Amino acid sequence: MKITRRRFLDIILNLVWLFFGVILLKVSGKVLNQNQKKSKKVIKNDLANGVHFRDELIIYKDEDLTRIFKSRCTHLGCRIRQSGDGNLVCPCHGSRFNYYGKVLNGPASSPLEQVKFEFDKMKNELIIYDG
Ligand code: FES
Repeated sequence: MKITRRRFLDIILNLVWLFFGVILLKVSGKVLNQNQKKSKKVIKNDLANGVHFRDELIIYKDEDLTRIFKSRCTHLGCRIRQSGDGNLVCPCHGSRFNYYGKVLNGPASSPLEQVKFEFDKMKNELIIYDG
């Protein structure tokens, strides 16, 4: 079987496209995996009732309810790391939020951003989706 020059160039061109396609799939797969790892956090569900500050999160837990917020203040983004008088207090300009994330005192005007989570009852873990 004789291969023409044109046919040979077509085969080479197809191999080049295949090579770049494989590279693209590998890169996009790695990006997807990194995003999935970033967006999911698992912690043991052994927290006592009250407020807990974990990394970029505020976890409020009582007998019946657990709420999780991002700890960034909705005014200018300072990190909220303290509670007082039953409220969450921003150290920068004094905004106060209740444990539902609602603004009690400004200058912040938007509630804290809630974070989705679920319980894994079998493992007694909180799976937090903070991405
Ligand atoms: S950044 Fe929180 S009150 Fe300004």
